[in-house]
Amino acid sequence: MSFTASYAPPPAPAAVRFTGVRKSFPDGDHVVDVLRGIDVSIAQGSFTAIMGASGSGKSTFLNCAAGLDTPSGGSVLVGGQDLTALRGDALTAFRRDHLGFVFQSYNLLPHLTVAENILLPTLLGAPPIPAAWQREVLALVGLSDKAQRLPGELSGGQAQRVAIARALATKPAVVFADEPTGALDPHTAAHVLDVLRRTAAQVGQTLVLVTHDASVAASADRVLFLSGGVIASDLHRPDAAHINQRLSHLSEVR
Ligand SMILES: Nc1ncnc2c1ncn2[C@@H]1O[C@H](COP(=O)(O)OP(=O)(O)OP(=O)(O)O)[C@@H](O)[C@H]1O
Ligand SMILES: [Mg+2]
Repeated sequence: MSFTASYAPPPAPAAVRFTGVRKSFPDGDHVVDVLRGIDVSIAQGSFTAIMGASGSGKSTFLNCAAGLDTPSGGSVLVGGQDLTALRGDALTAFRRDHLGFVFQSYNLLPHLTVAENILLPTLLGAPPIPAAWQREVLALVGLSDKAQRLPGELSGGQAQRVAIARALATKPAVVFADEPTGALDPHTAAHVLDVLRRTAAQVGQTLVLVTHDASVAASADRVLFLSGGVIASDLHRPDAAHINQRLSHLSEVR
């Protein structure tokens, strides 16, 4: 009898695990249920795209996953840590050390240089970033010659690449990006996304990205579609045609 034939390695812990996650917002004299019980596991090192109509809860989902917002119910585990059990400084420190976030609006500090913006997490208490890795991260996003510039001297695409470099510099396990190229022209957007995907893959990071663009989602390992407060569809190894088909189906059933 052979044991080796049936041996399967234990599954890696999920990078992100939602169990029964709900999120409601007060709206006048009633509440709006935006997430209505989300159960999902996102594999370590994978690239997942989140899609859905405007207002379907994509940013809410991402903010709950990244500890920027607190669910009304359920639990969010990131690398095995229950975010809903962390408060205040402990949550801030966990986010700083383990999570990266890229916003649509870059969120760079205007009076700090590119290099200083990338080092910002260390000013907030993250461990020092070795000088060689600082240089490498700038090179990965193609901005080696812009280290001493101020954000106001950069194009939108360059500014977003600084934000990506900052999200990667501390080598967080998971990088969340909420429509990171929404403010860029299509050509620049494609380049910036390519930088984000390649660098995340190079560092071995899990990438969770909100996008409205089917061609962007088609390069993900998996696409989650939000509708009606739940994951209405879950596509693995998607292609653009299938993604568009699901999107049009979702808009019909809404
Ligand atoms: N802080 C808040 N207070 C009250 N309502 C909120 C808050 N944040 C989000 N909402 C509501 O939750 C719903 C989902 O918002 P969310 O921003 O998650 O949608 P989205 O899918 O990211 O949309 P978009 O594609 O337009 O960015 C919306 O109806 C929105 O008005
Ligand atoms: Mg949004």
